[in-house]
Amino acid sequence: MIKDIITKKDNGLELTKEEIEYVVSNYVNGSISDEDMTLLLNAITKNSMSIEETYDLTIAMLNSGDKIDLSSIEGIKVDKHSTGGIGDKTSFVVLPLAASLGVKIAKMSGRGLGFTGGTIDKLESIPGFKTSISTNDFIKEVNDINMAIVSQTENLVPADKKIYALRDVTGNVESIPLIASSIMSKKLASGSDKIVLDVKVGKGAFMKNIEDAKRLSRIMVDIGNKHGKETIAILTNMDYPLGNAVGNSLEVEDAIKTLEGKGDKNFTNLCIILASYMVSLAKSISIEDAIDMVKTNLYNGEGLKKFKEFIKYQGGDLSKLETNYGIEIYSRKSGYITDIDTMKLAMLVRNLGAGRINKDDSIDHTVGVELFKHINDKVEENDLLLKVYTDDIVNKLKYLNLFTISDNKIEDIKIVLDIIK
Ligand code: URA
Repeated sequence: MIKDIITKKDNGLELTKEEIEYVVSNYVNGSISDEDMTLLLNAITKNSMSIEETYDLTIAMLNSGDKIDLSSIEGIKVDKHSTGGIGDKTSFVVLPLAASLGVKIAKMSGRGLGFTGGTIDKLESIPGFKTSISTNDFIKEVNDINMAIVSQTENLVPADKKIYALRDVTGNVESIPLIASSIMSKKLASGSDKIVLDVKVGKGAFMKNIEDAKRLSRIMVDIGNKHGKETIAILTNMDYPLGNAVGNSLEVEDAIKTLEGKGDKNFTNLCIILASYMVSLAKSISIEDAIDMVKTNLYNGEGLKKFKEFIKYQGGDLSKLETNYGIEIYSRKSGYITDIDTMKLAMLVRNLGAGRINKDDSIDHTVGVELFKHINDKVEENDLLLKVYTDDIVNKLKYLNLFTISDNKIEDIKIVLDIIK
């Protein structure tokens, strides 16, 4: 049957709900091989999926594992999810702001893989902080202080764990129906009533252009709404790093500065917008009214107070947060900053040890990069641009990726290519 399904999708035809359910359950239980699943994923990446197929895939994945029951938390539970960016610590600012205004947030987050960082890794840079707690304690925390962030339980959408790992090694990550079903199956399993999606667009995001980001957003919003969860997608710029730091403990510090009202202007505005949509959905009030409330709690310190309360509740000690040695990098000339190579920065931070290449790699929470200048800032020669936090700069630079090294030689290089007389 799997061979017929692969051929059908490879020919660009729509799969039925039964075929999709068959694939997901038999891949999870091991009856369908990685080889066959790869062929099917390749066909989906090539021919995409209709909205119905994507919905059916999402629901089949959702039904592969546990569903979190949040009904013992009073009030409207709102979840937030980012499709992944560079320096993306928005949850540490957005969630406390919304929670300080009474929104109930029971968030399950993942670890970083590839060029994006993970919220759980960033939280684990805080000594003592517990990211795995029992479901009962998780629910109690949200009832007590309005928010909690924990790592996804082992059995939350096992289909996504298995399919995502295969997508990652077979070049099938950047497919809109596969991303939509991956994200939405986890969001639906996590049990919140309403969902705010931060869909990143640009050089440092999965979605490089606005058209693809709109398509992805439309499908995810339709899936959420069809499942009875009011869902809204905010498409946000990911051409440049978010805020003033990339790296685990550095991003926690950057979030605190932002909650103190001293963060980067664009990052602060992004957090205000995302928090305001959470407040607007939870309280059914206008976005303008929600923005006023969020700004008030940003500048009066209530958001910061909530962040500290949440960290302490889960055992973290912010006074013990550690960053590495900072090596300063200066500008060679004066002028305006007109571009930052966001992907190169992400790779640098990952190579310093802040991120993983393979799923089980361990990471260094103390390394990263702090940015002192942003797009359109004026710089003079010898102005401080960056601090690179590492105790191992020589070793890290030893493998700077200038050369592509392959198994086979290429043709000899021609020096003179043409002569026109
Ligand atoms: N985040 C996910 O959870 N899944 C994807 O496929 C991409 C981003």
